[in-house]
Amino acid sequence: MEIIGANDQVPGREATVTTPAFRSLLYREPRLYDLVFPEADESISRMVYTAIDRWLPAMPRSILDLGCGTGRHLGVLAKTIPGCCGVDLLESNVAYAKAGHPGITFHVGDMRTVRLGRTFDLVTCLGNALSYALGDDDLNGTIGTFAAHAHAGTLLVVDPLNARAYLEGDGFQEQVEGRVDTPGFKATSVSVHQLDRQARVLKRTRTWHVIGQADEEDYAEYQLLLPEEVQRLLEPAGFEILGMYDNRELQPTDLTGRITTEADVSAMRGRKLYVFARRR
Ligand SMILES: C[S@@+](CC[C@H](N)C(=O)[O-])C[C@H]1O[C@@H](n2cnc3c(N)ncnc32)[C@H](O)[C@@H]1O
Repeated sequence: MEIIGANDQVPGREATVTTPAFRSLLYREPRLYDLVFPEADESISRMVYTAIDRWLPAMPRSILDLGCGTGRHLGVLAKTIPGCCGVDLLESNVAYAKAGHPGITFHVGDMRTVRLGRTFDLVTCLGNALSYALGDDDLNGTIGTFAAHAHAGTLLVVDPLNARAYLEGDGFQEQVEGRVDTPGFKATSVSVHQLDRQARVLKRTRTWHVIGQADEEDYAEYQLLLPEEVQRLLEPAGFEILGMYDNRELQPTDLTGRITTEADVSAMRGRKLYVFARRR
């Protein structure tokens, strides 16, 4: 398995990848991630295409997706973007992404440190992958990675969790119960959340109940970001903010992350900031 980390400038050299601070059944068995969060309407990819139409002069020739997970967004974008590359911290996700998308390049790598030695026309970090960067060092490291892989005019698309929705709005729910009922996976889950208001960190413990199996417990911490913080992080790294929205339809709002009742399997609707920026 090709692993790219802090000391690598080109693909192919081995380096240490940091042990993740999170664990999830859906990452240990990535096929379950796509069943639980199916993206059947491809609304994320459609949002990326809207941004391309709006802010790039032509269809990008290359894209880097950091925290790419199962590679599902690249799988859609690869239909029109020839040079697709995905990076994820977890070998399990990268192995699954490679098997599902043989024409796309995937690497195991840490978005806080990875260096591929080239730039891309489009850089994405979706599915709130940026929120896995906890604290200033992780955030600055990740944004340094965005900058290192961007040239003048590169479009950046990121969707961290919106701190305003959790701290000031209806985003925080102490307990969330879920049910998955697909031919490939039947389970219920209970997520218990804790909110550290000072650090602006959301902690989630999720217990999966699958009939006939022992319960499995996931754990993750997410950095919540205020819109003005995102701007303060990106601008010094050479990115000009083009737009920030709390919806995938790119409707201008006050960015308070109002939770709507519209269908959204990941129950994140209104809780994310969709950020579009261009490298100067
Ligand atoms: C919620 S998933 C989103 C996956 C994908 N972007 C999507 O939208 O379907 C978050 C992903 O970020 C990855 N991730 C978390 N920390 C990372 C890091 N430091 N470097 C690279 N990937 C990371 C996880 O392994 C996981 O695949």
